[in-house]
Formats: sequence, C-alpha cells, structure tokens
Amino acid sequence: MTYAFAQVGYIVATVLFILALHWMNTPDSARKGVQAGVAGMAIAVLVTWAQPEVINHAWIVIAIVLGFGVGIPLANVPLTAVPQRTALSHAFGGLAAGLVGTAKFYLWYGEGAGNLTTFRMVAITLEIILGYLTFTGSLLAAGKLQEIKWIPQRPVTYPGQNLINGLLFATAVGLGIALALHPTAPWATTAFPVVIALSLAFGVLLIIPIGGADMPTVIAILNSYAGLSAVAMGFVLDNKLLITAGALDGSSGLILAIIMCKAMNRSFTNVLFGAFGQVQQANKGGEQKQYKGETAEGAAQVMEQASLVVIVPGYGMAVAQAQHKVRELYDQLKKKGITVKFAIHPVAGRMPGHMNVLLAEADIPYTDLVEMDEINPDMPQCDVCLVVGANDVVNPAARTDKSSPIYGMPIIDADKARTIFAIKRSKNPGFAGIDNELYFSDKTWMLFGDAKGVVGELVKQFAGESGMH
Ligand code: TAP
Repeated sequence: MTYAFAQVGYIVATVLFILALHWMNTPDSARKGVQAGVAGMAIAVLVTWAQPEVINHAWIVIAIVLGFGVGIPLANVPLTAVPQRTALSHAFGGLAAGLVGTAKFYLWYGEGAGNLTTFRMVAITLEIILGYLTFTGSLLAAGKLQEIKWIPQRPVTYPGQNLINGLLFATAVGLGIALALHPTAPWATTAFPVVIALSLAFGVLLIIPIGGADMPTVIAILNSYAGLSAVAMGFVLDNKLLITAGALDGSSGLILAIIMCKAMNRSFTNVLFGAFGQVQQANKGGEQKQYKGETAEGAAQVMEQASLVVIVPGYGMAVAQAQHKVRELYDQLKKKGITVKFAIHPVAGRMPGHMNVLLAEADIPYTDLVEMDEINPDMPQCDVCLVVGANDVVNPAARTDKSSPIYGMPIIDADKARTIFAIKRSKNPGFAGIDNELYFSDKTWMLFGDAKGVVGELVKQFAGESGMH
C-alpha cells in the first residue's frame, strides 16, 4: 500500500514538473509554472520522507532546515546575479548526487557480495563522475561570473591542455569501467576515491579555459550534466521520480545550451574549447574614429517627430536597473501617439529571457516585446532606434566582418533605422571585447551616461514639455 501510494505521489510530481516546464514557455503562465515546480518538489520530498525505510527523521529535519537556510538567501539575489546563482544550485545538485553514490558504494561494498552488481556499479560510476565534476565545475563557473578576485575571468590556457584534460578524463572513465567489471575486488575501495579525485579535478580543468563570456552557456551544459547524474542516481536508488526529473533537467539544460549557441552562432566545441574572449582584437586601420554626442534634449526633439520608435535593451539596462525609467519613457511616447516596440535579442543580457523578465517587472505589455526575427524586417521603417545598454547584439560586424569573433551571430538590425541613439557609459566595448561600427555611423548619436540617468533625462524632457502645454 505504501509502495503504491509513493508511486502515485511520484507520478503526480512528475506531471507537475512537466507542466512547470510547459508553463514556463510563455511569460503570462510562467508564474504558474514556478508554482507547479515548487508543488512537485514538495510532494516528492514528502512522499519520500513517508517511506518506511526512513528511520532517522532528525537527519531529514536537519537537511530541510539547512536547505531553507541556503535556499532563502539564494532566492533573493539580484537578477544580474541569477547565472551564478543557478551555477551554485547545480553545484549542490552535483555534490548531492556524488555523495549519495559514494555512500551507496561503501554501504553495498560493506554488505558483501551480491549487492554491488555490474549494473549498479555502472550507475554509481556515472553518478559520481558527473556529480563531482559538476560540483567543482559549477563552483568555478559561479566564481568567475561573480568576478571573485582570485579566480581569473579570462580563459586560462596552456600547451597540451586538451590532451591533459582528455587523459585525466579517460583515466577516470577507465578506472570506472574496471570498477564496474570488478566491483567487489579488494582494490575497489582504493580505486573509488581516485575516481572521485579525478572527477573533482576534471571539473576545475574543464572550466578554467573558458572565459566569463561563455559562462552562461557552460552553466546550461553543466545543468544537463547535473540532470544526467540525477538520472544515474535514480537507477542507483531505484527511484523512478529521480530518473524522470533528472531526464527533464538534463534535456532542458541541453536544449537551453543549444538555443544559446545558435543565437551566438557558436558550436559546443567552440564554447568548451574555443577560449573565447582571450584575445583582445586590435583596432584595425589605426585611424581614430569619432563618436557624435547628443544631449537628452536634442534626442527628445527627434524622438517626438517619430512615428515608430524601437527600443533595444541590453545588458547595460540590467546593470543600471533602468527598466522602470524605460517604462516611463514608453508611457510618454505612447501618450504622444508614437508606436513603441522593444526589440528582444535571444542573448541580450547575461541569461536567456533576461530582457523579458526585466521588462515584465516594469509592467511593459508582452505584446510590445518583439523577437529579433520579427522586428528586423521593420527596422528600415523605424524612425528612431534607442539602444539602451546593448552592444554586441547590435554590432553590424556580425553580418559583415569575417574576422570578427562574433561574425555570423544574428543581430538586431539597429543600423537600418533612420536615426539611432545609443546609451552607454563610456567608449568601452561590450561582452565580446570588440568595437561597434554602429556607434561611428553617420546616423548614430551617443547619449553617454548611466542608462537609468539618461533615460530619466529623456523622460524629464517629455514630462517637462507636456507640463508646459
Ligand atoms: P554587451 O555586449 O555586454 O554590452 C553591454 C553594454 O552596456 C556595454 O557596452 C556597456 O558599455 C553598457 N553598460 C554597462 N553598464 C551600463 C550602465 N549602467 N548604463 C549604460 N550602459 C551600460 O550586452 P548585449 O548587447 O546585451 O549583449 C550580450 C552579450 O552577452 C553578447 O555578446 C552575448 O553573446 C553574451 N552572452 C549572453 C548570454 C545570454 S544567454 N544572454 C549568454 C552568454 C553570452 P559601457 O561600459 O560603456 O557602459
């Protein structure tokens, strides 16, 4: 009876996890998706806790209290820190899988022959290799993104790096295969910690050659590793929910990584082994190009005459937390009968959906958020394109310059608009570390300053003016 009860509980939790992912497809059902995920996880924990095998409830209570202790502060990080927060969650997931696999191995080994079947040992080996490498790899990824001083942000590379990494990984897998073939051999208890140590080291070595720029994609890949280690853990513990939840986690991480790679026109191998962001591109040609500056007053005068204004938000809007000011500007322009659209690039900012979340937070209607492919054909008809802290995602070099590291990345065609105003604080390049021709174009005027301040100035221009009438 209890078994049947648990299985029903697990099926309900699985359905809720699937619905959670489905509802997160669109912004208006996303909140429901999160609630379904929370409900699924709560049911999974309670059902597992109710199992007769659980004899020490105190440990469960301690684990839950610790989980809340870590989870609540993690839930309150600012939106710009979500990628590293996500990496930390994967690190915990990987560590949990690794520890469960380790405990099960020593438990079954101690209980003598019969328990450590080849099947179980294969599952344990996969679980610990993926679990421990996800643990150290994700911790390092989180550290890089958090820009912790003693962790280098730029890719760390040395000769023979891929060979050394490959050999290390092959040794771990080779030992794992030997263990699976002879799980109860006397040397198994010595080989097992060696596999753990190699996996921990491999996680670090896998991440150090990858630059901060690629970290969000790597985090999605680590997400799929964490999911796969959970699947292996499901086989070890004979728990179907872990198998299905791990598979969902693993495949969604992989899909996300593929979407991100496509949107940046990069391949997996290029992300993992390309050491992107290491070499700063020298400014070719040598001649010093000039920016044209503009004041908020001048920009407002031009915007006022427009019938279509397209706003391109980017990472700078997130840093400045300018979304609420952008909303005020949107309201002012709408009041004047101007059509305002937001052009959303799939990798604008530092995580998928970054801009959608920020603009939704400022209550900007979803209907005015237009995906890149849909807005691009309209860009030649756009009177004013206002770039708010975006850089790489509007860099025309991606279309024209074969030598550019972002060549081939789809971009928002801001350069095709009749007039462009670009807000940023300085002449520094964006994420990819390269200059942007758009800013030197005849049609572009720079509004230098913090995005929140500059958009605030624009709002004041419109508000002041309407106040006079
Ligand atoms: P970026 O190319 O990073 O450019 C952001 C610009 O915002 C910078 O040029 C910066 O210039 C400006 N900025 C920063 N703080 C600002 C502030 N407080 N006020 C005003 N401007 C500010 O951003 P993007 O165009 O959104 O492109 C995203 C990049 O991230 C792409 O290269 C993409 O491939 C990469 N990436 C994204 C993801 C995801 S999933 N979103 C994943 C991996 C990689 P100043 O310093 O001069 O102000």
